[in-house]
Amino acid sequence: MLMSRTLTSLVRTVPRSTKSRAAAVTQPLFHISQNKDEQQRQHSTQVPDFSKYKKHSSGEASRTFSYMMIGTTGLLTAASAQATVSDFLANMSASADVLALAKAEVDLNSIPEGKNVTIKWRGKPVFIRHRTTAEIADANQVNVQELRDPQTDAERVKEPEWLVMLGVCTHLGCVPIGEAGDYGGWYCPCHGSHYDISGRIRKGPAPLNLEIPEYAINDSLLIIG
Ligand code: FES
Repeated sequence: MLMSRTLTSLVRTVPRSTKSRAAAVTQPLFHISQNKDEQQRQHSTQVPDFSKYKKHSSGEASRTFSYMMIGTTGLLTAASAQATVSDFLANMSASADVLALAKAEVDLNSIPEGKNVTIKWRGKPVFIRHRTTAEIADANQVNVQELRDPQTDAERVKEPEWLVMLGVCTHLGCVPIGEAGDYGGWYCPCHGSHYDISGRIRKGPAPLNLEIPEYAINDSLLIIG
């Protein structure tokens, strides 16, 4: 009996002491964990103080400054674009020596009737023929319909006594010889093309008449180009 009372008291006391010890151990740990959670929650929700970085000037001043910067950038860009375009146009425009070569002037009084003169214009030969009355009549009596490149003489001259044309064979670009060939005009020895006294192709492989350049005659001055 005594023995069983003793066991019962042991059984009762042991859990009581174990519970109290567990409570003594776990209660502070729970507090620590709770404090940490609280600290983390506070830390994550706390907004830093940015007041010392805050701008103290008014919004109006900022807007004015922005407008000024945009305006200045636009002006600089426009000035730069204008300078670039000006330089480009200056480079693209013809220089004085090129413009001088663009036109050629010939005093027609210096060319006797029945004679040829060849000048160089834009790197190409130009034939100028002071035709005789017989040559003009010869050029006009041709049946244009029979020509490979049909053109009347009147279509090829501004004044009948002056024939002005490029001295470049329309076959492969050789320079024909004057006062030669079967038609009393020009002959290209490269492949045997014959041009008449109006510079029209009459025989040989050349497909077209000799080309007439842009020109004008002012009194006795011939201006080519
Ligand atoms: S280049 Fe003149 S005939 Fe061929």
